[in-house]
Amino acid sequence: MINIALPKGRLGNKAYKLLEACGYTISELMDESRKLVFRNEESGVQYFLVKPTDVPVYVSYGVADLGVVGKDVLIESDADVYSLMDLGIGKCRMCVAAKEDYVEDKSRPIIVATKFPNIAREYYAKEDREIEVIKLYGSIELAPILGMSDVIVDIVETGTTLKENHLKVFEEIMPLSAQLIANKTNYKFKEKEIREVVAKLGEAIK
Ligand code: PRP
Repeated sequence: MINIALPKGRLGNKAYKLLEACGYTISELMDESRKLVFRNEESGVQYFLVKPTDVPVYVSYGVADLGVVGKDVLIESDADVYSLMDLGIGKCRMCVAAKEDYVEDKSRPIIVATKFPNIAREYYAKEDREIEVIKLYGSIELAPILGMSDVIVDIVETGTTLKENHLKVFEEIMPLSAQLIANKTNYKFKEKEIREVVAKLGEAIK
């Protein structure tokens, strides 16, 4: 039995479609329900539906052998897991954005609002620029609009949220997409089964 942590929501649905194409089917998973565990003896798979930011936690504790997680969440979590493959879904960019007329004041630290403080700190450390981080959990775009921060470090997918709030991208930090991750110990014990999942996913992505 392979245990897979799937992020609830759009990315999880896309990932499930890929896994379904590989034969790891549990059709009731797509039904509207509050169920969190789905098991299918025949397909040899068990899915856990978890909050996207918790996927690396379930995998690093080994209760899930595999997990599907955005690269943003994975890097931010710093979890000690294997990254097995890029699934080519959930593509977007991690960017620095600010008000369209933003001009940096080099005489003081940049105030950065973000859901990703580790990514923001690492990026600005490389730029040799001092920052002050304001950690937020959503609607990040509000911070510069209200003058609480100078910039945001956030995900940009279509760019619609920025546009509708008169913000623009100033720098691109990295491209992002969904990754298949594995628990390191479980990988040793279930290497054959996990390799099979990876091979089938590789075919399905093609
Ligand atoms: C994410 C991100 C941006 C938005 C970008 O937010 O934080 O706000 O999506 O997408 P776009 O470029 O296609 O407009 P999410 O939808 O996760 O909601 P949140 O504000 O609650 O974080």
